[in-house]
Amino acid sequence: MMELEIENLAVLGAGSMGHGIAEVAAIAGYDVFLRDVEEDLVREGYDQIEWSLNKLAEKDQIDEDAEQVLDRISTTVDLETAVADADLVIEAAPENLELKRQIFEAVDSATSDETILATNTSSLRVSDIATATERPEYCCGLHFFNPPVKMDLVEVVSGDQSSEAVVDSAYEFVNSMGKTPIRVRKDVPQFVVNNVLTPFMGEAAWMLDEEAATIEAIDAAMVFKRGYPMGPFELNDFGGLDIFAHTRDQWNDPVPASIRSRIESDDLGRKTGAGFYDYDGGGGASYG
Ligand code: 3HC
Repeated sequence: MMELEIENLAVLGAGSMGHGIAEVAAIAGYDVFLRDVEEDLVREGYDQIEWSLNKLAEKDQIDEDAEQVLDRISTTVDLETAVADADLVIEAAPENLELKRQIFEAVDSATSDETILATNTSSLRVSDIATATERPEYCCGLHFFNPPVKMDLVEVVSGDQSSEAVVDSAYEFVNSMGKTPIRVRKDVPQFVVNNVLTPFMGEAAWMLDEEAATIEAIDAAMVFKRGYPMGPFELNDFGGLDIFAHTRDQWNDPVPASIRSRIESDDLGRKTGAGFYDYDGGGGASYG
């Protein structure tokens, strides 16, 4: 199989990862269909892209007006419309194996035989999703980080049956957007980054449970000693404590009490206004 040409893209899921990926691709010049299951969700994702593009344009961080980039993004709730002309489909649905398998099966029958089907899963095995299709050799993982428009790295993951040409094409696609791809050659759950990041956030929370140090002290240690942009608690608030716990639960890994209790009080992090830190009224992490 030769390397495949990618011009048109479909992104399935307009949440923070999906709309961010659509934005990055549109900035790079690709035509993108952004699809979610409800009009409101697609609209919200599109509005977020508009906000972000305006911010980037204000700071001359993109070469065009926000409007010119937005013109390359179409939205729909119809799966077939979204994927009909796509050379690459990136699925960014919630982290649920059955749901992702259903989407892959539907996309498989609605696309040409040579469309690449990529998943942005962060914790599942690519192969477990790819086997829902008739052509697992055309499937791979493309794992972006939050927020995609600001994060340079993308993991390009081979499933057990992915063809080299497909993974090479996906790798080149990431390069073409000015991002830095890394190859993950074995389909281990959570790939490289989350295999390191999940214990990083988990160990910090175990220490808090043991009252070994405060949230602020642990975050400060990582930010000021290691130079990380966010400490483990601030990062967990940023991604969502429910997302962290869901990943742990999926692989039967225990969840620290300091995270469980916050989830029970619906303090999921930035998105609910509180997590380890309080974000209401312009507040945020404060360990400086
Ligand atoms: N688009 C455009 N502008 C944005 C933006 C976006 N998506 N997000 C933030 N900005 C803007 C802010 O509004 C702010 O604008 P202003 O100066 O006009 O107020 C400006 O960018 C600077 O924002 P901040 O001062 O808040 O932030 P920094 O520039 O210092 O960096 C960050 C923000 C890039 C998020 C940085 O804190 C960081 O790298 N944090 C770590 C993130 C990380 O590790 N992500 C990976 C998580 S793991 C993951 O995603 C895996 C998944 O599978 C779960």
